[in-house]
Amino acid sequence: MRGALVALLMASTAFATAAETAAAQKFDQLALTPPMGWNSWNKFRCNVNEALIRETADAMVASGMQAAGYQYVNIDDCWHGARDSLGFIHPDPQRFPSGMRALADYVHAKGLKLGIYSDAGSETCGRRPGSRGYEAQDALTYARWGVDYLKYDWCHTDSLKAVGAYLTMRDALYRAGRPIVFSICEWGATKPWTWGAPIGHLWRTTGDIHSCFDCIKNTATGSPRGVMEILDQQVELRAYAGPGHWNDPDMLEVGNGMSVSEDRAHFSMWSVLAAPLIAGNDLSHMSAETARILTNHDVVAVDQDSLGIEGFRYSTADSVEVWFKPLVRGAWAMVILNRDTVARAVAFDWARESVVDSLSGRMAAFGTTTYRLRDLWTGVKVGTTARRLKARVPAHDVLMMQLTPTP
Ligand code: GLA
Repeated sequence: MRGALVALLMASTAFATAAETAAAQKFDQLALTPPMGWNSWNKFRCNVNEALIRETADAMVASGMQAAGYQYVNIDDCWHGARDSLGFIHPDPQRFPSGMRALADYVHAKGLKLGIYSDAGSETCGRRPGSRGYEAQDALTYARWGVDYLKYDWCHTDSLKAVGAYLTMRDALYRAGRPIVFSICEWGATKPWTWGAPIGHLWRTTGDIHSCFDCIKNTATGSPRGVMEILDQQVELRAYAGPGHWNDPDMLEVGNGMSVSEDRAHFSMWSVLAAPLIAGNDLSHMSAETARILTNHDVVAVDQDSLGIEGFRYSTADSVEVWFKPLVRGAWAMVILNRDTVARAVAFDWARESVVDSLSGRMAAFGTTTYRLRDLWTGVKVGTTARRLKARVPAHDVLMMQLTPTP
């Protein structure tokens, strides 16, 4: 037994020495479009186990989500057991009796990928062992298990500096040798959009999302962070995102209790933001309406557009906002968002509007080009920009269209 341990340690030391001769970096060519998948936290909190993860992988395939582009099955906090006498972390033996390697094999056999969660501090937010001081060992362990995605949280970090802490784990992952998407989760505290691009593939921009559309306006307490509040916090950040490095306004709450309109609006806005689409609901027991929202290929395509340009808020008036996102081949996504609690009549007079994106150097030339309009939620062609748009948008809902230039 001892001989085997020594051989194992020597093998890892030899591996580390060889890898250390090359400068570490983040893994390139990962997350060239915003990552798509599922994460256990929003719905299940600490109630995670291997049966849930296997069922979720099954449901991701059966529901059509895999076909729509979702691939990561991510276990959030509370999977952990204890560290052994050598410091290696093990999963909770009651919750994950078959072990993580077997779970990764199960997920991989379906053509999906496995994600896991840790924390830069001494403990995770759920008070499980954190990676502080064990970064290299943990990275090696995740690589051996076949993990494809790491969400790395920021609880119990005391005096740690975020840039250094995330660099340490980035380098540890690189040296472990398995390409792993690195998801920075420090809640926007030190503006990770300003330093995250060479370190991770995505970074949380805010504190935790809650399943309410507009908590500030529409709940008594006003304290949890709802979908609209998070949306407002993204407005200044679009310049920082692009292929391989995304702003992360947090995981989806679609199917977790908001109305169908609100879920549709939430999903539309996350797509216009080129946000990671990480579902946070119970995939094995979701309604047909929830599945229809999550698997809308046209809306997903807006999110996944290969230009990777985050959309922008073009106008705000009386609780109605108009957002645009440049797409490949001169097309645009357009969302009219009604934040009001009553339906609103909206009009858009194309000839009088000038949609210019100075960041990407693109403009929608409504004066000289006619665009065909398609409603991405009904799939219906709704005319062209030759005629003034008039529509009615229900409360907490959107009109989302694709604008395609005619030759
Ligand atoms: C933090 C993160 C959440 C989730 C929990 C788990 O709050 O921001 O997304 O991972 O920790 O404890």
